[in-house]
Amino acid sequence: MAVLISPGLRVQLIAGVLLTTIPLWLLAWHFRIRNPLFVSRHIPIHNAWTVDRETFIHEWTENQIGNPPNRSAIALLCRKPDIKWRPEVVMDLDDANGGIGNVRGNIFDFLSLAILTGSSIMLPSFQSRSAEDLSALWNGKIHFDTFFDTDHFVATFAAACPKMDVYMPSKDHSLVPPLQNRYQMPSMRQDLLEAGTPSETPSTPEEAVKNFNHWLSVQPDYDPKKTTLVNVGRTLWEGLDTRSLPAAVRRDFGGSLRLIPEVRRLAAIVTYNLALKYHLHNIDARLPYYTSAFLGAHLRTESDAKAAGWLNDETAAAHANYTGQTNAYLSQAVERNLPIIYVASGNATEISRFAEKAWHLHSFNVTSKASLLSDPDLEALQQLTWDQQGLVDYEVLRRSSSLAGFARSSFAFNIAITRNEFVDVNRESLRLRPQDLRREDVAFDDGFSKIWGRFPWQEDRMLRGAWP
Ligand SMILES: *[C@@H]1O[C@H](CO)[C@@H](O)[C@H](O)[C@H]1NC(C)=O
Ligand SMILES: *[C@@H]1O[C@H](CO)[C@@H](O)[C@H](O)[C@H]1NC(C)=O
Ligand SMILES: *[C@@H]1O[C@H](CO)[C@@H](O)[C@H](O)[C@H]1NC(C)=O
Ligand SMILES: *[C@@H]1O[C@H](CO)[C@@H](O)[C@H](O)[C@H]1NC(C)=O
Repeated sequence: MAVLISPGLRVQLIAGVLLTTIPLWLLAWHFRIRNPLFVSRHIPIHNAWTVDRETFIHEWTENQIGNPPNRSAIALLCRKPDIKWRPEVVMDLDDANGGIGNVRGNIFDFLSLAILTGSSIMLPSFQSRSAEDLSALWNGKIHFDTFFDTDHFVATFAAACPKMDVYMPSKDHSLVPPLQNRYQMPSMRQDLLEAGTPSETPSTPEEAVKNFNHWLSVQPDYDPKKTTLVNVGRTLWEGLDTRSLPAAVRRDFGGSLRLIPEVRRLAAIVTYNLALKYHLHNIDARLPYYTSAFLGAHLRTESDAKAAGWLNDETAAAHANYTGQTNAYLSQAVERNLPIIYVASGNATEISRFAEKAWHLHSFNVTSKASLLSDPDLEALQQLTWDQQGLVDYEVLRRSSSLAGFARSSFAFNIAITRNEFVDVNRESLRLRPQDLRREDVAFDDGFSKIWGRFPWQEDRMLRGAWP
C-alpha cells in the first residue's frame, strides 16, 4: 500500500534532506582539500592541515628534541659519588658572549665545571649585542631570560641536581663581594690532542676539579666558613666530552637550556604558516623534524660576519661569500629535492636577493619568518632584539628536512649537532668519528645537515664539545 504524502509534507522532506546533505557535502569538500589522505597515501594524517592552529602550537612547544625529557638522565651527572658538594661556593659566569651558539657553549662549560666541583651557581648571564653595531658584543650584562626559559632551567636542576643551589642575580645587591681573582678553567678536552688542534691547556675533568680546588684554597680572601662568590672566566667547548656520555644525558643536559616561550610560540606559528602557504602536508608538530618538507638555510652574510672577515675566509673558500653560500644551499635543495627553502638571515635585502636567484634558476620559493607572519605575530617578532629574532630561526631550522649552513657559524653548527641526535642510534660508531662527516670543503654532513666550508678549530671543539 502506497503512503500518501501531502504536498506540504513533501516540501518539508525535501528541505530536510537538503539541510542534512549540504553540510555533509561541504564537510566532504573541506576534507578533500584539507585531509592529506586524499593527496597521497603515505603522508601522515596528523599535520598542520588537519589540526587547528592552537593545537599545532601546543604540540610543537611540547616537543623539545624529540625525546621526552628525562631528568634522571641529567641526574646521572649530578649523582656521581666522587662529587663533593659544597653549596656555599657559588660560581658566577663572568663574561659569556656572542650569539646563541657561543652563549650555549659558554654556559654548558660553566655548568659542567660547577657540577663536577660540587658548587652552586648564579643563574648565568651574558653580554648583549649592540642594536646599532652588530659586531659590538660587549654591551652590558643581560639576564638569562633574554634567551632562555628560567622556570624550565631552575625546575630541571632542582629535580636533577638538588644539591646545587641556583641563585637569581639581582641588580640591587650582590650575594657577597666576589673573590678578587677570577678563576679560569683549564680545558677538560683531552680528546682535542688526538684531533690535532689541542687547546693550550688540555687536561681531564678530574684534573680540572683538582685545579679549581687548589686555586680556591690559595686565594687570600677565601674563607671556607663563609659563602664565597667566584667569578669564572668563559671557555668555549672546553668542558665535558659530550660523546663520552649516553645519548639521553647528552640530550637532556642540552635540553635544560630551552629557549623562551615567546620565541618558541613564534617559531611554531612560522612553521604552521609555512605548511599552509606552501601546501606542505607532512609537517607534524609532534615530530623532531619533517621528512621532505623544506630546506632550512642559514645565510650568514650579515654586516658583522663581513666585518669579522668570514666572507672572504680562505679555509671556507668557495662557500664563504653571498654567492658561495647561496650556490651551495641551492645545490643542496636540488640534491634533496626540496623546492621550498626557509632562509634564516638577519638581513632582509639578502633574503630578497636569494629569493630572486632561487626562483630565476630553479623556480624554488625562498621564504623567511618575517614574510610568514602577519600582525599581531609580526609585531611581536619586531618587538624582539636582533639575536632574539635569530632564535626564532634557530627553532624553525632545527626541525627542517635538511639543514644548510656555513662553517664559520656556531649557530648553524650547533643546530647540526642537535639534529645529529636523530641519526639512527645503531649508527653510533659513525657518529663518533668526525672524519666521516667531513670532506675537503664540507665541515659536517650526516645526511640531515650539511655545513659548507671548513673551520677546523671550531669543528674539533664543537663535534664533541657542543650540546644538542
Ligand atoms: C631516564 O633515564 C634513566 C637514566 O639514564 C633511565 O634509567 C630511565 O630508563 C629513563 N627513563 C625513561 C622513561 O626513558
Ligand atoms: C644587508 O645586505 C646588504 C647587501 O645586500 C648590505 O649592503 C647591508 O649592509 C647589509 N646589512 C646588514 C645589517 O647586514
Ligand atoms: C665570492 O667568492 C668566490 C670564491 O672565492 C670569488 O670567486 C668571488 O669573486 C667572490 N664574490 C664576491 C662578490 O666577492
Ligand atoms: C613562489 O614564488 C613565485 C615567484 O616569486 C611566486 O609567484 C609564487 O606565488 C610563490 N609561491 C607561493 C606559494 O607563494
